Amino acid sequence: MDIRIHLDNTRISEEMIAAQRDRSSEALEKLWSGELDFTGWVRQPHKFDDNKIREIRKIAEKIQQSSDRFVVLGVGGSYMGAKAVIDLLAPADAKTKVLFAGYNFSARYIREVLADLEGKDVSICVISKSGTTTETLSAYGIFEEWMLKKYGKEETAKRTYVVTEHRSNFLFDKATAEGATILDLDLDIGGRYSVLTPVGLLPIAVAGIDVQQLVEGARSIASQESFEKNELDYAITRQIFFDSGKKVEVFEFYDPYFAFFGEWLKQLFGESEGKDGKGLFPASLMFSRDLHSMGQYLQQGTECFFETVVTVDQPETDVRIPDLAMKPFAGKTIEEINRCAEKGVLDAHVKAGIPVVTIAIPNLDAYHVGELIYFFEMQCAVSALISGVDPFNQPGVEAYKKEMRAYITKLDEK
Ligand code: PA5
Repeated sequence: MDIRIHLDNTRISEEMIAAQRDRSSEALEKLWSGELDFTGWVRQPHKFDDNKIREIRKIAEKIQQSSDRFVVLGVGGSYMGAKAVIDLLAPADAKTKVLFAGYNFSARYIREVLADLEGKDVSICVISKSGTTTETLSAYGIFEEWMLKKYGKEETAKRTYVVTEHRSNFLFDKATAEGATILDLDLDIGGRYSVLTPVGLLPIAVAGIDVQQLVEGARSIASQESFEKNELDYAITRQIFFDSGKKVEVFEFYDPYFAFFGEWLKQLFGESEGKDGKGLFPASLMFSRDLHSMGQYLQQGTECFFETVVTVDQPETDVRIPDLAMKPFAGKTIEEINRCAEKGVLDAHVKAGIPVVTIAIPNLDAYHVGELIYFFEMQCAVSALISGVDPFNQPGVEAYKKEMRAYITKLDEK
């Protein structure tokens, strides 16, 4: 495994972690055994073989040739992973710009996306496992109408891509009837574990990112052996913190392009673990920006949290600060200063008694991002299983949906 987990600043002893390793091995065994529902993602990097990757790339190339914009409609697990990877890796000169909508109810947002489409060639992608989600399906109606006006029925169908389960639901039935391209999402993979399926791979490929490398990175650790020694110590450590009274895990990044990766982590951990009165509340901060705001709280506020820093060893690029700049910055590079910030914050926080986990990847490229995605999915599922909750359901989400739908139905009575 290229990913390194540093636990030396957590003040948790090797003995405490070792005492829990039987539990993490048991959870790992369960995930690989296939006895649990919604564990298709465990084998997905191998199951999604090179032929399937070629198919995705072919579809993506067709979209790139015909479209300036690719509008992805989806919410939660149906868009967050793709956006996280695109923000991290998309080349700035990509021919087709990938836009996301259908993840909020903001009319202004929809109008702005529609305004951006004017005069452009467009394809749309509707992603919903259930095929019925309110945000996604209401946005679909709006974007479909725009497409029909511009392209007519036949061409709209050619420019519409749907990712859903291969069974009857509103979206699947409509796409089948109209002849849109349907890409299947396996029944045994839930939304937040679906980045390495067509849900994530199609938008990521359209954005010009090497999906073969992304999947290969995940494949490199998609085996039971890859996590058999001390590679699940992060999952164990999280639960030791929770049991000792910590309630918040703050994910921290020193690169603004990781901002949405933080959002994806929040969804992954929050929706997987936050049930039965359990679960660490996942938060995320971007440094150095947030050192000038939340840095104060971290240093001297309530000790309810621990930190997980996600870092990259080698910066992709660097910029020298010219000699005319203020001393002592002149002549240094931005990334040298960034490294000083990272080391300085670590020292200051450790001195203040804050536990810090560090997770490091060697380079920021598709291969290592694929590895990182699979790594966090595995740590999250194991961590939830150790705490005794089902990582793959989200019964709490139904409560608000029921209430919201009742209000929507009442609108008909007006
Ligand atoms: O992780 C999950 O299961 C959820 O976040 C879903 O992805 C989200 O609710 C969207 O559901 P659907 O894909 O059915 O539209």
